[in-house]
Amino acid sequence: MASSLQTCVLVVVLFALFSIQTTTSASHHHRQHEVKSIHFALFQHETINKTGFFIVKGVAGPGITQTTTPFGTLFAFQDPMTINANRSSKVVGIAEGTSITSSLDGLQSISIAKITLRLKHHSGSISIVGGTHNTKPSDHPVVGGTGGFTFVQGYVTSSPVNLKGLTVTYKIEFHLYWPPYATQLQKTS
Ligand SMILES: *[C@@H]1O[C@H](CO)[C@@H](O)[C@H](O)[C@H]1NC(C)=O
Ligand SMILES: *[C@@H]1O[C@H](CO)[C@@H](O)[C@H](O)[C@H]1NC(C)=O
Repeated sequence: MASSLQTCVLVVVLFALFSIQTTTSASHHHRQHEVKSIHFALFQHETINKTGFFIVKGVAGPGITQTTTPFGTLFAFQDPMTINANRSSKVVGIAEGTSITSSLDGLQSISIAKITLRLKHHSGSISIVGGTHNTKPSDHPVVGGTGGFTFVQGYVTSSPVNLKGLTVTYKIEFHLYWPPYATQLQKTS
């Protein structure tokens, strides 16, 4: 009698342990599905000698053309970002940063930028860094953010839309992901 009771208790305990374990892994699984993300595109407009300036002249390679800059060129910008390709459309962001020509053919640079965004549900800034190709789409990792973008991860893809004339336009596609601890922080703050 006693031993069958023990067996029964053991079974109950084992069953309880087993169900705790499955609940834990289920909730872990559930949390991974909770990763918040947003995907959208804006258009960055850069006007030479107005929102973008050459600061240091490069030292080698091709000269300054519509698509190339000499190796070592340091360029700084503070460009408006609008909701569509028309420069007159609504401005919802500002990209501030620098790029340094890093390939000897004058086509690629290392870019560092802080992008301040005022979206309907999110305000703050994201910081990006990475290589930019002057004529092809380039992915830039998001290294972090502030405000509503604190701890944000992901990447932005920059693609030239119009490289002719004094104002050049790039399409910037944002792929932003908030890790679970970032959404928890937002709930508690
Ligand atoms: C921009 O300014 C520099 C320095 O003043 C000048 O040499 C250059 O021609 C200007 N570029 C344009 C496109 O106006
Ligand atoms: C850009 O927007 C302005 C004002 O909304 C409009 O007058 C103009 O025609 C638009 N340009 C293009 C190319 O759509």
